[in-house]
Formats: sequence, C-alpha cells, structure tokens
Amino acid sequence: MNELQKRIIELKEKKHAVILAHYYVPEDVQQIADYIGDSYYLSEKAKETDKDIIVFAGVSFMGESAKILNTEKKVLIPDPSADCEMAHMADVNKIHRMREMYSDLAVVCYINSTAELKAESDVCVTSSNAVKIVKKLSNKNIFFIPDKNLGTYVAQKVPEKNIILNDGYCPVHRDITLEEVKKSQSMHPKALVLVHPECEKEITAEADFIGSTSEIISFATEKEEKEYLIGTEDGVFYELRKKNPNKRFYPICSRQSCAGMKRITLEKVYHCIKDENNEVIIKEETRKKAKEALDRMLELAK
Ligand code: 13P
Ligand code: SF4
Repeated sequence: MNELQKRIIELKEKKHAVILAHYYVPEDVQQIADYIGDSYYLSEKAKETDKDIIVFAGVSFMGESAKILNTEKKVLIPDPSADCEMAHMADVNKIHRMREMYSDLAVVCYINSTAELKAESDVCVTSSNAVKIVKKLSNKNIFFIPDKNLGTYVAQKVPEKNIILNDGYCPVHRDITLEEVKKSQSMHPKALVLVHPECEKEITAEADFIGSTSEIISFATEKEEKEYLIGTEDGVFYELRKKNPNKRFYPICSRQSCAGMKRITLEKVYHCIKDENNEVIIKEETRKKAKEALDRMLELAK
C-alpha cells in the first residue's frame, strides 16, 4: 500500500466513511475500497451501509443511485464529471409517447441512466438481474431504456414479452467488433469468450458466457479452463488476475477502456474524502420517484 492509499484509509476510518468501487476504476482505487463489485452489488451495499459518508468510486449515475437509495447519507463522488455516456441516451418525451401507445406498458430502466430517467420508469434493472426481473413483470409490453444491446439480450431470454428497444448504447462495448473476436480467437484458440450483455448481438452470439462484470469474474474463477478472452471494460482484469493467478486473460480489442471510469484517480478520492466535496444532490421530487424504481428492483431481484 502506498502513502496516499494509507492516508485515504486513515481518513475513511476517522470520518466513518465507506468506499464503494466499481470493477472498472483504476486498480489502485479498487485496492482501498471496502466493497468492489458490479452495479447491483454496489447498490445493495449503498442501501445497507450504516456509515455516515459513502464515497462512490465510479461514474455519476452510481453515486446518484447510492443517494437515491440511502438519502440520509452524505454521498461523495471523486469526480463529478466522470460520466457514463449511455446514461443520457433516452428521451423523457419518448417515454410519455410510449405510455400513450401501450396501456399496459412497463418502462424498464437499466441502472446506467440519469436520476431523471429512473424517475420516469417503473423498475430499474442491472445487467445481472434484468432477465429475472423482466420475467417477473405482469406487463406484456416493455419499453427497455436506454441500452439497445441489453434490451436485445433480455428479449432473447424472455421471448414471451414484447420488448420495445431504445437506441442507446455503450461506446466501449459497441466498439468491440466480430472481426476482432475472430482474430483474437485464432490467436488463442483454447480461450473461452466471456462478454458483457452491452456488446452487440453478433458478439454475444459468439460468446461462451454472457454476464455482468461480477458474473464474468465468477464464471472464470469457477471454470477449469486456463485461458479467456474478455469482452468488457479492462478494469476487470485486476480482479480476474488476482483471483486466478494461474489463468490467462486477454482483452478482445485494445479499446476496452471507459473514459468516465478512468477519471477516478486515487488523488481525487483523497481530496474528496478530505474536503468532503462533490456531494451528490438530487431534487427531492426526482429522488422519490427514482427510489420507487430502484426499490422495486431490489425487491424483484431477491
Ligand atoms: P455491471 O453492472 O456488469 O458491473 O456493469 C456496469 C457497466 O457500466 C457496464 O458497462
Ligand atoms: Fe457507461 Fe459504457 Fe462506461 Fe459502463 S463502460 S460506465 S456503460 S460508458
């Protein structure tokens, strides 16, 4: 542990704070976190914590979700400009139009979305629980926002529903091409292909396993195979290699880096916890409505 990491840990104890980190943030930040995980796990931890301060090392929708779920706490984000592009890729007016078109519509919102979009939705989902939750809904018509690819994956798994897709996407996952999958398979013919459902459907069709970041890590850890091609953001390599020192992990392409997540540096975590700045503030009306969608997710995901 370096000096800065030690100072962060001391401050964290002194201020009765908890640090939550997503698998995509730089590894020196993951090293000082109390909990590292996928979006679902981290939202549960944010809701449960009895600490006074939550420092969320991730992009802004993650800090917002923590504040929505546990509003009494002070939620800090190391860099408020660390954003997820996909979180903005849906339109409130379109949601209203869809509700007029289908009387039984459920608006299902991927957690990678702004608080305003969550507030317009019936239920939130993450990549690890989307299929389970959509299956449980009584509505036939589902408007899935913002991610087209996760929506497509859910539609394949829940064919009894009419899933209406939105045209949002994650630039990092969308950029992984089939040509690159084939090329990396020819270089590592024994490797299993593990991808995130945010990838395009021709990529998920090639995969041996599709899952959230935690699910990818668990799958690779439990399997006997020694080599894996990984189709998600490169922050997951830290945990994959830590848990599996005798296995080999390769990215499918060289662009698997999320600019928003990489803005979360150790220095910014230190300053944010020391000065207690960059507090997440959400309008009360928005927060209350968004909380209903997130609480419903936690209930249905059980
Ligand atoms: P997970 O919930 O699988 O960690 O995914 C979050 C994310 O942003 C994927 O791009
Ligand atoms: Fe958003 Fe994509 Fe970054 Fe995930 S990897 S936080 S979906 S931009």
